[in-house]
Amino acid sequence: MDDIIRKPSLDSTNAYAQSLSIDDDLACGTVVLTYNQTNGRGQLTNHWESEIGKNLTISVILKPKFIFAGDQFNISRIISLAIYDVLNSYMENVSIKWPNDIYVGNKKIAGVLIENTIMGSSIEYSICGIGLNVNQSLFLSNAPNPTSMFLESGRVFDTEKILVQLRTKINDRMNFIRDNGANSLNSDYQKNMYRNNGEYKFKDVDSSFMASVEGVNEYGQLLLKRTNGLVSTYSFKEVSFVF
Ligand code: BTN
Repeated sequence: MDDIIRKPSLDSTNAYAQSLSIDDDLACGTVVLTYNQTNGRGQLTNHWESEIGKNLTISVILKPKFIFAGDQFNISRIISLAIYDVLNSYMENVSIKWPNDIYVGNKKIAGVLIENTIMGSSIEYSICGIGLNVNQSLFLSNAPNPTSMFLESGRVFDTEKILVQLRTKINDRMNFIRDNGANSLNSDYQKNMYRNNGEYKFKDVDSSFMASVEGVNEYGQLLLKRTNGLVSTYSFKEVSFVF
């Protein structure tokens, strides 16, 4: 976990990482980092806003060959728990909003975009794009509820130090899965999920309803238990919180 490819400016660290030839010479844990990401990609068609030099916009290239393709949600667990670990050491009310947004209270502090390349039944490599808002104080895009480490704590952080901590936590969380098996991070992930205490209002294509977050199954689908006891299973974007 040594190599960092630093670029003053890139359209997207994920796009750049995809363009590299990811062969045996490229170490697991290699990071692509830019100080000025001009066309940051978010989930679906979203754009990721990041002010020049203020935040971490990185892609971590993992080669988790011990994770089967069918278990790929484990990559989300590794990355979101690693970000959680770092933030939790500095502030309270950090949580993981399924599948891999990181929240502080009701605001989003980090976003994750994971792109896996599957070979046979295992994950050949995984490009884990992470946008962590560190020192940005003003957000100009129409992202609904952004925040940063600075806004939450009033402190200015050293992005390099945060990067070192994040890489260490990713390594730790990845080794844990390697040693303990797929889904061994389930309970930690579940324990730290956003609004996992009590009933909240959700909406799916059919209706809005009250339900509690029961966790995530081995395929990474969200499990919601309705007031009448019925448990429904949702894939990404099939359901959302109603605020
Ligand atoms: C989201 O919440 O919609 C995901 C945002 C992911 C943003 C990061 S910033 C670094 C990496 N490169 C990209 O183009 N996107 C990810």
